Amino acid sequence: MDTNVQKRRENKKSLRVKVISLGNAEVGKSCIIKRYCEKRFVPKYLATIGIDYGVTKVQVRDREIKVNIFDMAGHPFFYEVRNEFYKDSQGVILVYDVGLRESFDALDSWLAEMKQEMGSQANMESIVFVVCANKVDLTKRRVVDESEGRLWAESRGFHYFETSAQSGEGISEMFQAFFSAITDMCENGGKRPTPEVSVGFTKEQADTIRRIRNSKDSWDMLGVKPGATREEVNKAYRKLAVLLHPDKCVAPGSEDAFKAVVNARTSLLKNIK
Ligand code: GTP
Ligand code: MG
Repeated sequence: MDTNVQKRRENKKSLRVKVISLGNAEVGKSCIIKRYCEKRFVPKYLATIGIDYGVTKVQVRDREIKVNIFDMAGHPFFYEVRNEFYKDSQGVILVYDVGLRESFDALDSWLAEMKQEMGSQANMESIVFVVCANKVDLTKRRVVDESEGRLWAESRGFHYFETSAQSGEGISEMFQAFFSAITDMCENGGKRPTPEVSVGFTKEQADTIRRIRNSKDSWDMLGVKPGATREEVNKAYRKLAVLLHPDKCVAPGSEDAFKAVVNARTSLLKNIK
């Protein structure tokens, strides 16, 4: 065969990608990568200093993928070191610890930091995101449940996996899905092929459920000021009912959120003349 033709075919089959890991310090980013690449777990915490770099090769269908992994330090102290590594990533592994709510709440600020560092030409649609709800082996200390994590991820068109770097649960499934989605994206001209609508609910519904779960009282839940009138309470209730009615909304947790809204309205109306 003509060597140029052969070379072109080989080039089409091999692919080089860059992925990064993000999330608060100590959530298990390095351990997830170590579990996948070295099939082992280290219980002692060794904080990543700035950034760790590694290369691995994976096979997706007929393509060999060379993956450059940049494992970021989660500690705020290393911001200056990691900020230049965001650019040109095709994949992001977002990690939180299911036993630490602040690490879950921090996911939004990790996305914000990434957007800011990528600058104005940032195109988040050309990046595959996978969310790891990590340390699921520590069941007793779990505070962020699956539906909450899945909702946050899937409402943004991100993949969601429950993982444990300690037991290995979910790790190879997560990486397989991640690399396969990155390959699909590259073959799809750089556009992420998982549209938001495919999950069957909107980001507004997902964000509303999250807000309801985290609300501090019934006023807050309905999104009205304390002391609001019956009309204001009813108006806010109707808006939420349309958005979250179980016949209309398939987002995980919508049924509980709907019930909570009904109860909040009932208790508020009891006390308003
Ligand atoms: P930084 O590098 O500081 O950003 O932290 P990191 O996110 O890379 O955390 P690392 O992987 O170093 O893990 C932090 C601690 O959590 C270590 O003591 C790990 O042994 C432990 N750990 C990581 N994953 C798991 C897990 O799935 N289950 C349990 N039980 N412990 C874990
Ligand atoms: Mg680390």
